[in-house]
Amino acid sequence: MSGFEIIRPLPGANFGARIEFDRAGAASVVASAGAHPEALPAALAQCGGLLLIKDMQAIADDPALLIRLSHTFGVEVEDYTTTLTAQTAVHATVPQILVVSNLPPVNRPPPARPDPPLTADGKLPVQYPQRSGWHTDQSYRRPPPDISLFFAVTPVSKHTGQTIFANGTLAYAALPPALKARVEGRDGLHVRLNTGRSRTAVLRGDKPRPLAPHELPQRQPLVRLHPVTGAPALYLCESSQMDWVDGPIVGLEPGPHGDGAALLDELMTHLTRPEFVYAHEWERGDVLVWDNRCLVHTATWFDAEVEGRVMWRTTVHGNPGPLYAGESKSWLPQAAE
Ligand SMILES: [Fe+2]
Repeated sequence: MSGFEIIRPLPGANFGARIEFDRAGAASVVASAGAHPEALPAALAQCGGLLLIKDMQAIADDPALLIRLSHTFGVEVEDYTTTLTAQTAVHATVPQILVVSNLPPVNRPPPARPDPPLTADGKLPVQYPQRSGWHTDQSYRRPPPDISLFFAVTPVSKHTGQTIFANGTLAYAALPPALKARVEGRDGLHVRLNTGRSRTAVLRGDKPRPLAPHELPQRQPLVRLHPVTGAPALYLCESSQMDWVDGPIVGLEPGPHGDGAALLDELMTHLTRPEFVYAHEWERGDVLVWDNRCLVHTATWFDAEVEGRVMWRTTVHGNPGPLYAGESKSWLPQAAE
C-alpha cells in the first residue's frame, strides 16, 4: 500500500507519470508520502525521473509542506541562504525555496522565443538548436544535486511558460554505436552562469572574469550512471552551463568552433529528439519532481509584459553516486583554517 496510483507515461511522452493520491490535497499528500517514505522515490526511479502531482495549491499558504515533500527524495534540501544564491530570489520565510519569477524583487526574465517560434508543422519546438536553454540543474557543482521540485504558485497562460524535459536514459539507449563509442569515458566541462565562459559570451569576445576556487569549472561524465537504477544517461548542457573557453568536452579541441563543440551539438540534437521529450503545461497547484541525474530541461517564453509568473523551486542533494564519494562541496568557499 503506497496510498497512490501511478498513471504513466505523461501525455504525449514516453516517460514520466502522474501520481494520483487516494486522499487529495497537499497536506494529505505530504502525510501519505511521509507514511510510505520509499514509495515516491521508487515511483520516480521506475517512471524515468519525472513525476507530476496535481492540486497542491495549499502549499502556497503553507510552504513548509513543499519542504517536507522534498525531504521524501533525499537527506539534504538546499538552504539557499548558505549557498551564495542571490538573496532576492530566496523565499522570505522559508530559505529552502528559490523563487523563480519575472516579478520584483526576483526580476528574472523569461527566455526568448525560438526563431522561428514554431516548427515547420506548427508545433512547439523542442529539439536543439531551435529550442535552446537545455541544462540539468547546477551541473557546475560537484557533487551535483539529485532532484528538483517545482511548484506552480502562479503559472501563466497555456502554451507559454512551459517546462520541457528530455530523457537522457532513453537518449543514451538509442545512441548510434559510433556516437556511443565517441562519448565513452569522456567528461564535459561545466561552469556556472555569468563567468564570461558561456558559448554566447565567448562568441561575443567577452573576457572571462577571474574565478575564485569555488567557481572553477567542474568535470562531469558525459554518460552518467544513475545511482538508483544503474542506467546510463547522457548528462550535458549547452550554451550557458558548459565552459566554452577550455571545454565543452575535456580532451577535445576547445571553443565554440572546435571538435568538442561539434560533438556537443550532435549529442544535444540527439538528446532532445521529440521522442525523448515531454513538455509540461503548468496549472496552478502543480508540483513536478524531476531527477537531474538523468533528465535535462529548459523553459519557454511567456509575455512578461502582461503576466507575472511565480514558481517555487527546491533542490535535493544526497545520492550523486559512487563517482563523487567523499568529495566536499566544490561550490562553497572553504572555511578559513
Ligand atoms: Fe533548471
